[in-house]
Amino acid sequence: MMGSFVNIAYIIAAVLFILSLAGLSKHESAKRGNLFGMIGMVVALIATIFSGESGSIILIVLAMVFGGSIGLHFAQKVEMTQMPELIAILHSFVGLAAVFVGYNSFWEIGDSINTTMYRIHLGEIFLGVFIGAVTFSGSLVAFGKLRGHLSAKPLVLSCKHRLNALALGLSFLLMIIFCSSESSGMQFFALFVMTFIAFAFGWHLVSSIGGADMPVVVSMLNSYSGWAAAASGFILSNTLLIIVGALVGSSGAILSYIMCKAMNRSFMSVISGGFGFDESREGEESGGVCRESSASEVAELLKNAQSVVIVPGYGMAVANAQHSLYALTTKLQEMGILVRFGIHPVAGRLPGHMNVLLAEAKVSYDIVLEMEEINDDFSKTDVVLVIGANDTVNPVALSDPNSPIAGMPVLEVWNAKNVIVFKRSLGSGYAGVQNPLFFNENTSMLLGDAKKSVESILSSI
Ligand code: TAP
Repeated sequence: MMGSFVNIAYIIAAVLFILSLAGLSKHESAKRGNLFGMIGMVVALIATIFSGESGSIILIVLAMVFGGSIGLHFAQKVEMTQMPELIAILHSFVGLAAVFVGYNSFWEIGDSINTTMYRIHLGEIFLGVFIGAVTFSGSLVAFGKLRGHLSAKPLVLSCKHRLNALALGLSFLLMIIFCSSESSGMQFFALFVMTFIAFAFGWHLVSSIGGADMPVVVSMLNSYSGWAAAASGFILSNTLLIIVGALVGSSGAILSYIMCKAMNRSFMSVISGGFGFDESREGEESGGVCRESSASEVAELLKNAQSVVIVPGYGMAVANAQHSLYALTTKLQEMGILVRFGIHPVAGRLPGHMNVLLAEAKVSYDIVLEMEEINDDFSKTDVVLVIGANDTVNPVALSDPNSPIAGMPVLEVWNAKNVIVFKRSLGSGYAGVQNPLFFNENTSMLLGDAKKSVESILSSI
């Protein structure tokens, strides 16, 4: 009886998770999507706790209160700019949990049921631990890179592809030993050695990916954490965990594919590493002369414009300039000026970063356009305000085939009549590539914190 209730609850939760993902695919329905996800999770938790298969309810509640308080504390403290780091560290927990679930299942199962099903179960355990360990160490490296504890430069070992192939080959061999051996000591040895190989493999895989490709890494790890959860679902014979894991795994994979397309990269070349940072170009000066502007000059330019496009980037998030930008947008609209936002698919530090910030500041969705929708309009635009964006407006991506960001589609802001770049210095962006846009004749730099600059322009207007 209890079993059927649990199954019904799991089906309801699974449907809610699917509705949640569907809702999250559009700005307008994102809040509703989140709500569906939360309700689904509550249903899933209650059903699991009272399924009768979860051991001590007191221990589970204690773990939930403890884990929940830590989660709540960090979620309240985290800045929007630190979100990708938070996501990366959370993925590492999923990976580690999958490793623990795998080991626990191995110890529980013993060699009591020496059948074909037992061998298949061993295969599930092995794969679960492997994916979990790769996700754990890879996510820790991604966390370190995003937080700045580790260098954004890719680790370039001359034999890196051979090392990766060796790790995969050895793991496959250990899997055969693990699944076919009759001795539990030998099985444990194979599992243990593979765990270390998988930790090293995950660490090396993400270490060899450079700064400019980090967005794909974050969503790729998201996908891995889903597959790790699905593998745990198979180990625990938990249907809901399999469904949720597969949903996360496949949506992460689709997102990685979309982002690779947005950056004009092949998925395989990203995950085999090595793109994203050209050491020889670090600190390279473009050699040109750049023009500096003042807030009052920009205000004057805006007053005389008919069409303005605002291109935000990571610097807008750092400066928390979205609310001031909303005020500026409203002011310009009141003056009859056409104002729109142009968003690059990887602007900021996580997919949809800019859209979330602009939505939070109440900027209307219909003036926030994707790169493909706005790129052809720059030639008809009087003023472009580039707010803390750098790599995503770098013309080198189109002009220099040897650049680390070569081939990445960019917002072609230089086609506008006037370009104003808001940033604090002439330094490079996340990919470490100098930006010749700053030295164009139609570009002026408004140096300083983006929020302060926007506020000064507002008061000048
Ligand atoms: P970036 O190329 O990183 O440039 C951001 C610029 O903002 C910097 O040049 C910085 O220059 C400026 N800045 C920082 N703080 C500022 C402040 N308070 N006021 C004004 N300017 C400030 O950003 P982007 O154009 O958005 O490109 C995103 C990059 O991040 C890409 O390379 C992308 O691949 C990578 N990335 C993206 C993601 C996702 S999924 N979106 C995830 C990880 C990495 P100053 O220091 O001179 O001020």
